[in-house]
Amino acid sequence: MTSANAEYFDGLYRDQDPFGYRSRWYETRKRDILLATLPRARFARGWELGCSNGETTRGLAARCEALLATDVSSQAVALARQRVGERSNVQIVQAQHPQQWPSGSFDLIVLSEVGYYLALPDLTEMIERIQDALVPDGLFVACHWRHPFAEAHQDGNQVHAQIAAQLSLPLAYRYKDSDFLLEAWTTHPQSVAQQEGLR
Ligand SMILES: C[S@@+](CC[C@H](N)C(=O)[O-])C[C@H]1O[C@@H](n2cnc3c(N)ncnc32)[C@H](O)[C@@H]1O
Repeated sequence: MTSANAEYFDGLYRDQDPFGYRSRWYETRKRDILLATLPRARFARGWELGCSNGETTRGLAARCEALLATDVSSQAVALARQRVGERSNVQIVQAQHPQQWPSGSFDLIVLSEVGYYLALPDLTEMIERIQDALVPDGLFVACHWRHPFAEAHQDGNQVHAQIAAQLSLPLAYRYKDSDFLLEAWTTHPQSVAQQEGLR
């Protein structure tokens, strides 16, 4: 089975909110947890892979000096552009990863609900390239639904296990409940209290 492609996702985005990001409390809560647990108030250059219709993108845009958001689906890119509006710090681009890759490096990379759509060889390559694309003290955040579903090459637990097995970075923090797993890795797992000189 090959990784899900643009045609598949373009079909889904005939509905403007196929995953219920705008309507479900589950999604609002998960997004708020992801944003609230980011240990820095501001990031210089962030990248969100698989930005869908732009709900998380809006939240990340407020925390990044510059934000790149990418998605394999041109329909998703159009919806995300509408949602994010004219914010000059955000660039939203159609791209399929890992085959297409942005230049430069990032101090925040967010991979939320994307990993399971990639066949294992693509996922493996993507993780390797994500690590290379982080600046030395950059933060990589992954967040995934834990249950199997028809289009998934591997479930969210397996995606995170694969990430942990490949990365040479220590885990900075983890949130886990019965439905999703949120984990982040960085070379500088300094707590927020340490950053602010509280200890
Ligand atoms: C379930 S949505 C995740 C949305 C968003 N990241 C969030 O968590 O709120 C998955 C998105 O990833 C995109 N996607 C899937 N495979 C991709 C790939 N190989 N490269 C880029 N985008 C991809 C899909 O088009 C879809 O919009």
